[in-house]
Amino acid sequence: GEPIRVALLGCGTVGTEVVRLLTDQAADLTARVGAPVELTGIAVRRPNKHREVPAELLTTDAEALVASADVDVVVEVIGGIEPARTLLLAALRAGKSVVTANKALLAEHSGELFEAADASGADLYFEAAVAGAIPLLRPLRESLAGDRITRVMGIVNGTTNFILSGMDSTGAGYGETLEEATRLGYAEADPTADVDGFDAASKAAILASLAFHSRVTAADVHREGIASVSAADIAAAKALGRTVKLLAICERVSTDGAEGISVRVHPAMIPSSHPLAGVHGAFNAVFVEADAAGEMMFYGQGAGGAPTASAVLGDLVAVARNRVHQGRGPRESAYAALPVRPMGQT
Ligand code: NDP
Ligand code: HSE
Repeated sequence: GEPIRVALLGCGTVGTEVVRLLTDQAADLTARVGAPVELTGIAVRRPNKHREVPAELLTTDAEALVASADVDVVVEVIGGIEPARTLLLAALRAGKSVVTANKALLAEHSGELFEAADASGADLYFEAAVAGAIPLLRPLRESLAGDRITRVMGIVNGTTNFILSGMDSTGAGYGETLEEATRLGYAEADPTADVDGFDAASKAAILASLAFHSRVTAADVHREGIASVSAADIAAAKALGRTVKLLAICERVSTDGAEGISVRVHPAMIPSSHPLAGVHGAFNAVFVEADAAGEMMFYGQGAGGAPTASAVLGDLVAVARNRVHQGRGPRESAYAALPVRPMGQT
């Protein structure tokens, strides 16, 4: 088929890995999508800093790149509200599919983004926005669409989990662990977004919106970060057989017979035998409870360039397939033939 032409907005921790995967997996992606997936341009702030990508693809004019007639899909990994919001609204209004990892934007402006997408029929996918590599949003949106979800609860911020794990296991100081989380590419550009619970609150808003088919924004989420958690608190919890974790909890509640939703983010002391207590470093884990399905647990890497790029690429394949096959899902022909090896020849 005709190539699917992609504009990448941002080329930092996540964007660099998106470019690497797009390049390394080009042949496989073509087979899976049914058409080549080509990078048309990459918008950044400081082009001279980006020796890792072809110079001819770089531009500082993100607006012109999004508006270009040579772009079918816009992948946004800049972060923050503006200019991301204006750029994505322009893309969606022009009928271009959008893939974004921007939880801060979605937790505040999903209403107008979805309206723009609905009006033009464009796709808006954002699996990477919550829990990094873990397939979680599409299971909520699609696989569980026939069930009634009652609760979504777990660890959705890698940076604070990395800090709490470090303080718990090695007694490392708060400041040095946060520095390391930043160096490893887990933390937000402004790490107070992680530490003060804003990032987890944005993710909780997105999870609650999808799980309960509601419009929940970050402002609706009760939020407490980990700034008040001391090494002494962690040691005291440990002595009681408990572990401190920053939890996001989204649940259906009933007050005086009226149904509603409670969404909150706060540190919690959980029994050290609980599966969430064993989630260390930048890993995330989320429990989902639904009436018919019962309890499920999703676990994996919640932050970092490559894990996040995996989720971005998954969305890119999905929106590209939708364009190539008019939304009819993966075709059998998309599977490249690999020989099955008899036992003993592996
Ligand atoms: P970085 O800060 O590493 O990268 C941001 C990129 O955006 C940089 O390349 C920067 O350009 C570019 N940029 C900034 N402002 C503009 C602008 N006005 N126009 C064009 N380009 C611009 O961020 P991350 O890669 O870590 O995160 C990107 C997004 O992914 C955020 O929404 C974040 O929340 C989300 N995310 C991140 C995860 C992670 O583990 N890092 C995990 C899940 C989601 P330049 O390099 O030239 O300065
Ligand atoms: N800063 C975020 C975190 C990145 O630490 O979880 C992944 O969304």
